[in-house]
Amino acid sequence: MDPLPPADRPRRNRRSDALRRLVRETTLTTSDLIWPAFVVDGEGDRQPVPSMPDCERYSPDVLVDEARTAFELGIPAIALFPRLDDNLKDATATESSRADGLLQRAIRRLKLAVPDMIVITDVAMDPYSSDGHDGLVKDDQILNDETLPILAAMAVAQAEAGADIVAPSDMMDGRVAFIRDALDEAGHGDVGILSYAVKYASALYGPFRDALDSAPKMGDKKTYQMDPANRREALREVELDVREGADIVMVKPALPYLDVIADVAGSVDIPVAAYQVSGEYAMIRAAGDKGWIDGPAVMMESLLAIKRAGADMILTYAARDVARALR
Ligand code: PBG
Repeated sequence: MDPLPPADRPRRNRRSDALRRLVRETTLTTSDLIWPAFVVDGEGDRQPVPSMPDCERYSPDVLVDEARTAFELGIPAIALFPRLDDNLKDATATESSRADGLLQRAIRRLKLAVPDMIVITDVAMDPYSSDGHDGLVKDDQILNDETLPILAAMAVAQAEAGADIVAPSDMMDGRVAFIRDALDEAGHGDVGILSYAVKYASALYGPFRDALDSAPKMGDKKTYQMDPANRREALREVELDVREGADIVMVKPALPYLDVIADVAGSVDIPVAAYQVSGEYAMIRAAGDKGWIDGPAVMMESLLAIKRAGADMILTYAARDVARALR
């Protein structure tokens, strides 16, 4: 029998745990995590989200306690999403730029109680819009340029309340530059922009829309969110956002789009974020809770894969569980 040439034995590097740790190329740490959380009005309130086990909507006081715990676990940042009552929604998302709107109140309380935690806020009309779209609706069209001042006013209101980073997730053209100008003009030159630069029109946002009651009332989001079939187009979106002044660019969803994450990470010199979205979380949790897969292990493997593809940071609803497991 012909022995293998001695050099052709990659298994030599896998012989023990210590050796595997030594040659490991990618490490997931708690510092990579951003925890997305849902906010509702009220006091002492926690509302479970049935399609997202262990994710709840918190009233601002509960949010503050939960955020403090997350920060103490080592999670550096929280991303906030408000759920509004229907009677506060309208066609122009008026509530989104009010100084005492729900999200703005939540930001203020959070920054007062846990000042060092990075607060990231979503900039998009959908949770505030009676149409459930991310832009202004006219007939059956989603208007682009007319939406930009609404987004800018929303971002400025969030910055005034204390947001560290605003995160436009609407996919309107030109919104990063428009928001950057508005922030600078309002004296918020230090507030960063995490752009959802590459956001696909994905079927994986369903549980999130349940959580916020934010599903579109008519049509879908395919005229503004990207076609899942497209890869090169992601680089065009990223290039535009970088030129417009984005500080961080994001790809979303994450696991089904690792090729895109890798392309983007290879093409920009600013940090890249990835969003493991609600449907990704729900799938892993559902199969795990049924005992069909080892849920926590699949979660870790997924996040590691997202990082290996090139993400510098990951938004995940499992952030707290993962932080506990990494301790
Ligand atoms: C709103 C927004 C969405 C998500 C983040 N911001 C939903 C959408 O675009 O319909 C989805 C997040 C998730 O599914 O976890 N613009």
